[in-house]
Amino acid sequence: MAIQTQSSRASGPARVGLAAGDPEIASLLSRDRERHNHTLNFIASENYASPGRARGARLAPQRQVRARATRVRYYQGVGLVDDVETLAIERAKQLFGAEHANVQPHSGSTANQAAYYALLSLGDTVLGMDLSHGGHLTHGSPASFSGQQFTFVSYHLKADDETIDYDEVARLAREHRPKMIVAGASAYSRIIDWAAFRRIADEVGAYFLADMAHIAGLVAAGVHPSPVPHADVVTTTTHKSLRGPRGGLILCRAAHAKAIDRAVFPMLQGGPILGAVAARAVCFREAMQPEFVVYAQQIVDNARALANGLIAGGLQVVAGGTDNHLLVVKLLDRAYTGATLANALERAGIITSKSTVPGETRSPRQTSGVRFGTPAVTTRGVTAAQLGRVAELIVEVAEDPDDEARLGRINGKIREIAAELEQI
Ligand SMILES: Cc1ncc(COP(=O)(O)O)c(C=O)c1O
Repeated sequence: MAIQTQSSRASGPARVGLAAGDPEIASLLSRDRERHNHTLNFIASENYASPGRARGARLAPQRQVRARATRVRYYQGVGLVDDVETLAIERAKQLFGAEHANVQPHSGSTANQAAYYALLSLGDTVLGMDLSHGGHLTHGSPASFSGQQFTFVSYHLKADDETIDYDEVARLAREHRPKMIVAGASAYSRIIDWAAFRRIADEVGAYFLADMAHIAGLVAAGVHPSPVPHADVVTTTTHKSLRGPRGGLILCRAAHAKAIDRAVFPMLQGGPILGAVAARAVCFREAMQPEFVVYAQQIVDNARALANGLIAGGLQVVAGGTDNHLLVVKLLDRAYTGATLANALERAGIITSKSTVPGETRSPRQTSGVRFGTPAVTTRGVTAAQLGRVAELIVEVAEDPDDEARLGRINGKIREIAAELEQI
C-alpha cells in the first residue's frame, strides 16, 4: 500500500503571480496594455471595466460548475452564489425598470439566440436591420445562425437623411407578416424610436425584440430613451457603453420569463460564468450612481465633438452626425477603402474598425466606412476639446493614408494626447 507523503500529496494550483507562472502570456498582456495606453481606442463596442468590476470577476468562484437555473438545484453547495446571481438579477431589473432579467448569457449573440429560440419556431419570418445599414450579424446575416435558421427580411435607412425608414419597416411588416421585429444596431448613430417599432409590431401581431447591446449604458443613464417599456424582450451586452464585464443580459416581460430562462439554460448553455455574473452585479450598481450619468452624457458630447470636427474637415458622416456614442465616416467618394483608412489610422495610433455603409459598393473585407466610438476614450477621461484636436489629425490621415512620414508625425501627437489621459 502506498502511503502518501507530504511531498507526494496532490495539491492545488500554486499561487504564483502570472509573470512568474506564465511569463509568455504575462508579457503579451502587458504589451497589449501598453499599446492601449499610448493609442486612442475608438472601437465603438469596447470599453475599460473599473477595478471593482474586474475584482468582482476574479473573486467569484470560477470552479463551481452549477449547471442550473437560479434556485433550481442540480448541484449542492451553491447557496451563496445563488445569492450573488439573485442580486445581479434584482439590480438589472431595478436599473432598467424590467419585469424579469436573465444574467447568464455568455455574450450578446447568445442573448439574441436565446430570445429567438424562446419566442420563435425555426424558419419563422423576422424583420431586422440590414447589416450594411448598421444591423448586427445576429439580425439575419446569412453567415450567422440567425440567417440560416430563420427567414429574415431586412429594412434599411432612408436614402436622404440616412435614418431608419419606419415607413419601409411598416410596409415590409404588412407584406411579410413577421413573427418578430428586431430593432437595435451595431452602427447606427441616431436615436431609435422604440415606440414606432412597437406600433408596427402590434399592427401585424409580431413580437418586438430590442437589441440595445451598443447603447445600454446610455439607456441606463437616461441619455437614450429606453426600449424596456415598449419591447417584449430586450437583449444587450454588458461590456460596451454599460462598461461592465464581457457578457450578455436579457430583460423581458414577466409573461416571457419562463421561455427566456429555458432558452438560456438548458437549451443553449450549461453553467453560468459566476465571475462574470458577480462582475455584472457590480456593473449594474455602478451604473445606478450619479457619476455614471455624467459619464454617459460625456460619451455623447465627445462623439458629437468628434463628428463635428470630422465634418468641418470635409469628411462625410453617415446620417450627418450622431446622437449617441458612435459615428461612421463614409468614404464612397474616396479612391481608397475603409480597410485602408482604418489601417493607416492604426499606424497613427488611432484604433477604429472598418464598417460597411448605406449604398455600399465594396466587399465586407474592404468596406467604404470607418466606425468611431467614444465609450473607451471617455472612460480614460478624454474631453471634447482634446477630441477636436484628434479630429484634425484624423482628417490629416484621411487626406493621404499612404503618406508614412505624415502617419509617423501624427502618431507622435496621438501619443502626447494619450499620455494626458488616465492610464489603464
Ligand atoms: C447590436 C449587437 N448585438 C449583439 C452583439 C453581439 O455581442 P457579442 O460580441 O457579445 O456576441 C453585438 C456586438 O457587437 C452588437 O453590436
